[in-house]
Amino acid sequence: KFHLEPKAVSFPHDGVFGKWDTAQLQRGYVVYKEVCAACHSMKFVAFRDLADLGYTEPEVQALAAEWQVPGVDPQTGEAVLRAGEPTDYFPSPYPNAVAAAAANNNAIPPDLSLMAKARHGGAEYIYSLLTGYQEPSEELLAEFPEAAPGQGLYHNPYFPNLNLAMAPPLTATGQVSYEDGTEATIPQMAKDVSAFLSWTAEPTKVKRTQTGWPVLGFVLFATILAYLSKKQIWAAVK
Ligand code: HEM
Repeated sequence: KFHLEPKAVSFPHDGVFGKWDTAQLQRGYVVYKEVCAACHSMKFVAFRDLADLGYTEPEVQALAAEWQVPGVDPQTGEAVLRAGEPTDYFPSPYPNAVAAAAANNNAIPPDLSLMAKARHGGAEYIYSLLTGYQEPSEELLAEFPEAAPGQGLYHNPYFPNLNLAMAPPLTATGQVSYEDGTEATIPQMAKDVSAFLSWTAEPTKVKRTQTGWPVLGFVLFATILAYLSKKQIWAAVK
């Protein structure tokens, strides 16, 4: 009873009639880049995939170049960081898992590419987690004193363990600036980045549900045809 189910939030891409809201996905990308990418990689998503969000090829090139990705110095063969190219994947901010754990109270920030599919509640869960930080209730502490968040942990009733090593990442209105003039409130940023992570987890979701309609139409057509031919074939038999 102390672990809460995700909040009910709806997204434009929900359901069988859903469509991506590319303006929202672009805002979500800004939140990911400016906030989440400080700790989380997205190793299954390439910069070129951003074309789906409505960016042109030169724009994708420019967006990729804003990132630093691991590369090799062609002269010395040493590992260096170089500007991203459209074919690169979203990098991890840490050189390795030990460094990631050391920077985060021994918890490794998980890759976010598939997070919206990996967790019960998907995008609603991510939204709830981002907006759900709060003091543990007195009722909880009375029943389970050991549930008080330890050093470097933060209480969040939407997280299955109730305490997690991620400090609240979204803390102030205007933390990122949106080009489309939308006010970047905490719930707005949480919603936009959750929508963005739905897209990264399942970029073909809208195409998949849309494909269902012609398929259903064809099945209906085939059924009517089968019925009519059955009548025709058996017409002579009394
Ligand atoms: C875990 C999302 C920013 C550090 C997580 C989880 C999600 C998430 C969905 C997984 C929770 C689970 O396992 O169910 C986000 C989003 C961010 C963001 C959307 C940006 C808005 C950050 C930042 C940091 C960070 C800036 C580091 C300062 C961590 C750590 C964990 C984690 C250490 C593992 C927590 C644990 O297992 O105790 N994050 N995160 N995150 N995140 Fe973030």
